Amino acid sequence: MQEKITALRADCTQEIEQCTTSLQLQEVKVKYMGKSGLITALLKGMKDVAPEDRPKVGSMVNQLRNELESVLEKKTAEIAEMELQHKLKSEKVDISLKSLDEPLGTLHPVTLITQQIQEMLIPLGFKVLEGPEIETDYYSFQALNIPKDHPARDMQDTFYITDSILLRPHTSPMQARFMENNQPPIKIVCPGKVFRSDSDASHSPVFHQIEGLVVDKHLTLCDLKGTLEYIAQNLFTKDTKVRFRPSYFPFTEPSVEVDLSCSNCGGKGCSLCKGTGWIEVLGAGMVNPFVLENCGIDSKQYTGYAFGIGIERIAMIKYGIPDIRLFYENDARFLRQFKK
Ligand code: PHE
Repeated sequence: MQEKITALRADCTQEIEQCTTSLQLQEVKVKYMGKSGLITALLKGMKDVAPEDRPKVGSMVNQLRNELESVLEKKTAEIAEMELQHKLKSEKVDISLKSLDEPLGTLHPVTLITQQIQEMLIPLGFKVLEGPEIETDYYSFQALNIPKDHPARDMQDTFYITDSILLRPHTSPMQARFMENNQPPIKIVCPGKVFRSDSDASHSPVFHQIEGLVVDKHLTLCDLKGTLEYIAQNLFTKDTKVRFRPSYFPFTEPSVEVDLSCSNCGGKGCSLCKGTGWIEVLGAGMVNPFVLENCGIDSKQYTGYAFGIGIERIAMIKYGIPDIRLFYENDARFLRQFKK
């Protein structure tokens, strides 16, 4: 009996050691420890052992079984770990594999310029908001010091929907809308579509503006000029100069047309600036005290400045685009050029 036990121990240990998969291990387990396994058979054979030897033999068989069970357990853990490692390796996703190229669109140049201006003004504390494209006569004109039948209305050839509702001809209504509900300090930019009955190589019935409005104590034209210089130098080059020419808008006093030194020739004179060295880019001015008062802001305490930038105009200068209509044709050959 003892020899049998020793032989079984050696055989079983060896077979366990040779296993490389959990399936093989399972087979060994059944072979030795299963219901009709070899060790189970040993226990059953106890009846042939002399009664006085039974306790001793019994405890030897039990010891054998415990030993083999712990060897088996150890091996099971080893194999499980091995199989896991193997699985991890074989099922690894190769993320270095190049994906299929999806055709990706590009940002429209109008979007690019709008985003650029917004992104440079946000760090200065400007809030970005948008307003309605279908506006009332009141916010488009009256609140901005342009009464009905005032000749200044001719500056913008407006699309009227009814007598009092229209497609906004500029983003300036947002000045009035915001000031009505907010007290200074105010610092906003409002991008969006505007509409005018006008169409040629440099005018489109729908185009884009970005309106800037700042209202606070002690603001002067110098603050306006500094802000515009900052915008111009970020859009073009660090040495871009800003020039003010006297102008007229009913909602600003004084009002200015703003020219930038030509980014193409650096001010020497070229075809882009028509030999003048300067390019007119936007209208601006100090918010007319009438407008402040119309919107419930004390004009004795506060001053403000405002500007309205034509986005297409900036993009045309920056990218050398000769015709405004190119922006709206959605010709992929045109748009693709603005891929970053
Ligand atoms: N709203 C004016 C325009 O569209 C531009 C402007 C904005 C002028 C703000 C002065 C102040 O022409």
